[in-house]
Amino acid sequence: MAMSSSPCLFSPIKLRELTISNRVFMSPMCQYSAVDGLANDWHLVHLGTRAVGGAGLVMTEASAVSPEGRISLGDTGIWNEAQADAWQHVTQFIKNHGSVAAIQIAHAGRKAATDLPWRGGRPLSDAQDGWQPVAPSAIAFDDGYRVPEVLSVAELARIESAFAEAAARAARAGFDVVEIHMAHGYLLHEFLSPLSNRRTDAYGGSLEGRMRFPVAVARAVRAAWPEHLPLFVRISATDWVPGAWDLPDAIRLARELKAVGVDLVDCSSGGSSASAKVPAAPGYQVPFAATLRSEAGLATGAVGLITSARQAEDILAQSQADAILIGRELLRNPYWPLTAARELGAAIDWPPQYLRAKI
Ligand SMILES: Cc1cc2nc3c(=O)[nH]c(=O)nc-3n(C[C@H](O)[C@H](O)[C@H](O)COP(=O)(O)O)c2cc1C
Repeated sequence: MAMSSSPCLFSPIKLRELTISNRVFMSPMCQYSAVDGLANDWHLVHLGTRAVGGAGLVMTEASAVSPEGRISLGDTGIWNEAQADAWQHVTQFIKNHGSVAAIQIAHAGRKAATDLPWRGGRPLSDAQDGWQPVAPSAIAFDDGYRVPEVLSVAELARIESAFAEAAARAARAGFDVVEIHMAHGYLLHEFLSPLSNRRTDAYGGSLEGRMRFPVAVARAVRAAWPEHLPLFVRISATDWVPGAWDLPDAIRLARELKAVGVDLVDCSSGGSSASAKVPAAPGYQVPFAATLRSEAGLATGAVGLITSARQAEDILAQSQADAILIGRELLRNPYWPLTAARELGAAIDWPPQYLRAKI
């Protein structure tokens, strides 16, 4: 039923000098469909359709900052100029349709070098063109994964620069938001979590030590990214493993991220342990967005099993988050924002080509 007051989900949000027309953000989702890290027609149609569908912001999949930082050989990248040129076609289309183009930049760490999910997703052998993953410590993610090579301090500096250069390239490619992937058990989360970081140097040990590298990366990206544009970070708010990385640690991290100029924390969870028990249920990660918003005093995004317009609206109306990231529901229905707006009684611009379908 239509509501009389104007819904939060379709109110604009301003971060730095960027105004995003509504608060439905497309969550980053790997497509495993690139060759040499280059976005192609699949990415244009996949991302472009969600812009046509009315999402205020459309985010690319995790795009690697270096070739060895790829999860699979099908990952997109942003480590060279040819990739930036390929993305430009996509960002232009997204922006021409009234949406904001965002890119998630990532390094897979010890979870790199795996096969495509629909081919089993297992670690690649040498014969399958697998490569040696790197990580804070020599601890494999799970059975069958390679033991990662421990990163030296000099290599950390190179990866930090790779993130910063990726952000600068993303700006040239026309993106208006960069999100650093610090979640799901990939490289930066591996530094944060005691499950994967057993270093005895300045980059391990205490919470402060484990946060040092991820926060340095955020600082470097902020310096390379245009001042007037917002920077997001996706974190895992908990490892879902007793005694490991947890919400109080995430609050400390979010405060540090805010201090280095991060504008929004996108609140996910898990990914660092193959045996974690994740209590997935509708909206199960929303309390993380609410807590980080109030405890760290920065904007947050809520994500995870948010599938209905009413559910998304209530999260915003109750000030639990500033934006809603939608993943799989947007794969099922690219036009979800248009139908959600109708359900909530919000005015939203339909693509003129589709106006005859508007009721
Ligand atoms: C096919 C697929 C690929 C994904 N790839 C990424 C990714 O590249 N980066 C990321 O942070 N999360 C990734 N995720 C997680 C989603 O962004 C999202 O957080 C998760 O699916 C929960 O939200 P949902 O219930 O709305 O799908 C992926 C999820 C799916 C289903």
